[in-house]
Amino acid sequence: MHDLESKSVENENREKLSSLSRRRFLAASVAGAIGVALAGAALWPIGEYLAPTGGGMEEEKVTIPRSQVGVGQAHYFNFRGRPAVVLQPDPGQFIALSVVCTHLGCVIKWQQDQQFFLCPCHAGKFSKTGQVLGGPPAGPLPSYPVAAKADQLVIG
Ligand code: FES
Repeated sequence: MHDLESKSVENENREKLSSLSRRRFLAASVAGAIGVALAGAALWPIGEYLAPTGGGMEEEKVTIPRSQVGVGQAHYFNFRGRPAVVLQPDPGQFIALSVVCTHLGCVIKWQQDQQFFLCPCHAGKFSKTGQVLGGPPAGPLPSYPVAAKADQLVIG
């Protein structure tokens, strides 16, 4: 009789332990899934900044007030779902380029003092016309047509 009671208590303890393990496993799994989802949500904008995915309309044109592009300055904008820039290297001359590095897709930055683009990822350098000046990029930046109207620039 004592033996039977002992086995019954033993089985009960084993079930409690098993139930507790399942609950802990389930709680850890839910916490892990939430952690992964939060990390993805937090890192997505960084990834999109470093390597934009694009996805805009192919025929879309962008109009920018001419006054926003000073001589020697760069004006960043979104072109067909991807980051782009329009420059005025010399008075009345406008150049529109993609700013997605042709190496691994980071967004390049205009160095106004030195008048070239620098990629923050691997130090690729591009001229104001998008030609490779140094670093690992193998090809130039894609360029876009710019029509300079009275007080507007129409790109695309
Ligand atoms: S991604 Fe620009 S140099 Fe590597």
